[in-house]
Amino acid sequence: MKVLIATEKPFAKVAVDGIRQEIEAAGYELALLEKYTEKAQLLDAVKDADAVIIRSDIIDNEVLDAAKQLKIVVRAGAGYDNVDLAAATAHNVVVMNTPGQNSNAVAELVFGLLVFAVRNFYNGKAGTELMGKKLGILAFGNVGRNVARIAAGFGMDIYAYDAFCPKEAIEAAGVHAVDSTEDLFDACDIVSLHIPATPETKNSINYDLVNRLPKGGVLINTARKEVIDEAGLIKLMEEREDLKYVSDIAPAALDEFTKFAGRFFATPKKMGAQTAEANINAGIAAAKQIVGFLRDGITKFQVNK
Ligand code: 3PG
Repeated sequence: MKVLIATEKPFAKVAVDGIRQEIEAAGYELALLEKYTEKAQLLDAVKDADAVIIRSDIIDNEVLDAAKQLKIVVRAGAGYDNVDLAAATAHNVVVMNTPGQNSNAVAELVFGLLVFAVRNFYNGKAGTELMGKKLGILAFGNVGRNVARIAAGFGMDIYAYDAFCPKEAIEAAGVHAVDSTEDLFDACDIVSLHIPATPETKNSINYDLVNRLPKGGVLINTARKEVIDEAGLIKLMEEREDLKYVSDIAPAALDEFTKFAGRFFATPKKMGAQTAEANINAGIAAAKQIVGFLRDGITKFQVNK
């Protein structure tokens, strides 16, 4: 059996070493396609792969057509909006993610970006502190929960909304549960996005919603660029010079956001899960899930059932 790691944005070397150990211990062969620049390279590499480990790499119908032996794709990470699930099912390919494995890394970056934002991007002028500020967490999954844990250390007043998580579970974590996304933006100084990109969430963070933030509000996005209605946010930031937007994902309209000097920042490449620890956790979990599936038929974490 051949397992391919196909990562345009590579894992740390220690993670690749750990994955190799898992795969070879099971008697399988590991192949590596890193930093590829053309889809053709991916199409070629998947030809004889039985399993593929990916990150934000796109797995579409064309890739699945090329991968004649493919049985399983594991997205080493949380969001699987980069995989065409229906096409995978049609090709009889199991798709899994590795939930929770990189969530602390993303949550820590939230605070790296937040301190940077409230201290005016380190321009030397007096900024503000996080202590005592109201933080809104949109979606209380693995990342949202880690954000809440760290925010408590900063002495923040923490709120959350999650359409799929009971209020009791949010309150049990010491977080105020609100009734809607609108209420979250009304209540908080800072809102941190942790929703996946789905047909329901795409463009959902729009002009009207963000306009609910109070004066000096900060929107932070370490989720997906697709959830932002970029035209709406640009219009709002033109009208409201008090708002800041910080993102771990460069917007599609990067040039237009760049004009908001001192109020906008995006990492050049998505950095949330780029730690050795997260790479090791997610990468090795992916390898173990592949071995578990190919050897024992275990389908835990399958997302295309
Ligand atoms: C995820 O969904 O797990 C994160 O967005 C990390 O994505 P990455 O593996 O492309 O860094």
